[in-house]
Amino acid sequence: MTALTLSTAAAPGLRADAIVIGVAKGAASRSGGLVVAPGAEAVDKAYDGKLAGVLETLGASGAEGEVTKLPAPSGFKTPLVVAVGLGPEPEKDSSFDAEALRRAAGTAARALNGSKKAAFALPLTDAADAGAIAEGALLGAYSFDAYKENGKDPKKGKAPLAEVALLGGKPRDRAYKAAVERALAVSEELNRARDLINTPPNDLYPEAFAAVAQAAGKEHGIKVQVLDDKALVKGGYGGILGVGGGSEAKPRLVKLSYTSSKAKKHLALVGKGITYDSGGISLKPAGHNETMKCDMSGAAAVFAAVVAVARLGLEVNVTGWLALAENMPSGSAVRPGDVLRMYSGKTVEVLNTDAEGRLVLADALWAASEEKPDAIVDVATLTGAMMLALGSRTYGIMANDDAFRSAVHEAAEEVGEPAWPMPLPEHLRKGMESPTADIANMGERMGGGLVAGLFLREFVGEGITWAHLDIAGPAFNEGGPFGYTPKGGTGTAVRTLVRLAELTASGDLG
Ligand code: BES
Ligand code: MN
Ligand code: ZN
Repeated sequence: MTALTLSTAAAPGLRADAIVIGVAKGAASRSGGLVVAPGAEAVDKAYDGKLAGVLETLGASGAEGEVTKLPAPSGFKTPLVVAVGLGPEPEKDSSFDAEALRRAAGTAARALNGSKKAAFALPLTDAADAGAIAEGALLGAYSFDAYKENGKDPKKGKAPLAEVALLGGKPRDRAYKAAVERALAVSEELNRARDLINTPPNDLYPEAFAAVAQAAGKEHGIKVQVLDDKALVKGGYGGILGVGGGSEAKPRLVKLSYTSSKAKKHLALVGKGITYDSGGISLKPAGHNETMKCDMSGAAAVFAAVVAVARLGLEVNVTGWLALAENMPSGSAVRPGDVLRMYSGKTVEVLNTDAEGRLVLADALWAASEEKPDAIVDVATLTGAMMLALGSRTYGIMANDDAFRSAVHEAAEEVGEPAWPMPLPEHLRKGMESPTADIANMGERMGGGLVAGLFLREFVGEGITWAHLDIAGPAFNEGGPFGYTPKGGTGTAVRTLVRLAELTASGDLG
C-alpha cells in the first residue's frame, strides 16, 4: 500500500519524483481561461508567474481528468511537475469540493504509476480537504498484479505510486491527523475489497473468502463466526444451500461482529457474496458471464466496511453478514421449479436460478433481523435491470422507510459514491405470487430491480429499518480507469457504509 504523510516541506527543496499541482477551468465571469489552483504558488513563482500561460501552450484547459506533465523549474529538487485538471473553478469565496479533490488526486496518482514518491500540492483549505486528497491518491494508486509476472517481481512492471507527501497539511494538527488516518483505514480496506473482487473465482470461493474474513477478524479484534455447509443444513438456511448446491465449492454464511463498549446503536450490514454467478441451470449465455466473479462485490464491501469501522474504533456495534455461495449448474443444482424452505420459514419457488442473489440475501437478512438491530443495509450486485436504469456509475437505493433512504442517499453523495433513490411499488408484488410456494423468486421483467427489492423486503424482520443498495452498475468497471476508480473491481459502497456507521455512532442517523 502507498505510504502517506502530511508535510510542511516547501516545494523547491522537497525531494520527490514529481510535484502534483491543480489547474482549473476559470470562471466565465472572469477570463474563462486556465487558472492555477492554490497550493501551486511556489511552482508558479519559479515559472515567473507564467505557469498558467505555459500550461495553456501545452494544451491544458483545467478539465477534470486532464494530466499535463512538464519539467520542474530550475532550483527544484523535483524533476517533474504534474498538473492535474480539477474541472470548473469554484465560485468566488468557496473552495473546490471534496469529490473534485479526490478525483484529481486519483488521476494524478494513476499518472504517476511506476514512480516512487510524489508531493501533492493541491488546493487544501482544511482537514477535510486533506482527507479527500489522501483518499483520492490512495485509491488512485491501486493496481491488481497478483496474477501477473510483475506481481511477483515489481521490477518487471509499473508498481503503483509508493509514497505520497501532502504539502500544506498540518502534521501536528489533530483534525488533519485524524482525517489522514481515516483516509488510510478506509482506502486500505477498500483496496482490499477490490483485490477480493478481482481475484478469479477459481481461487476465491466461499471457503476461501471465509478464511480471509477469519484472518482479518483476528488482526482487528472482530469476532468472526462461520457457518459451513453442515451448519447451514442444521440451521435450515435453505436459500444459501439452494444456491450453493450446484457447486463443488460449498457455501458459507460469515458473521463479523464488531462491538464497542461505548455503542448505543447497532447497525447490521448484509452482503451478496456469489463468488461466481454462472446463472446455474438457467445458465447465462456467453457474453454475460465473463465478469461474474464480481458478484461478491456486496460481501466484499460489507467486509471492508466492518474492518475499516474496527480500525477507526467507532462507537457503534456493527455486524456484517456475508452470504457466500457459488452459483453453478450440475446434478445437485437447484432447478427452476424447485421450492426452497428459507431460513425465515417462508417457502420460495425458484423460477429462475439466475435470480440467486435474493435467495442468499433472504437468509442473511432474516439472520440479521433476529438480533433486532437499529437498521439493516444490504449491498448486492443484484440486477441487470438496475444497470439498465441507472447506468454503470450509479447505484440504486431502495428502503422500507423514506427518511432512511434519503439519509443513505445523502451519505453516498457526501463520500462521492453516485447513487439514486428508487421506489418499491406495491403493485409489482403480485407478479411474484406462486401457485405452489409463498413467493416466487421472479416477477415482472419490467422494473426488475424493484421486483428484487420487494422480494428482499419480505425477509426483513417486522419493524426494522432497512435499505437495499443495488450496486450491479458501479461494482465492476468494464471501461477505462477514471479519477480514483480503476478498471475492474471498484469497491463501491464501502465508503457509504463506513459513513453510515459514523452517522449511527454520532446519533445522526435514525
Ligand atoms: N448477478 C446478476 C446481476 C448482474 C448483472 C450483476 C450484470 C452485475 C452485472 C444477478 O444474479 C442476475 O443474474 N440477475 C438477473 C435476475 C433475473 C433472472 C430476474 C438479471 O438481472 O438478469
Ligand atoms: Mn444471477
Ligand atoms: Zn448474481
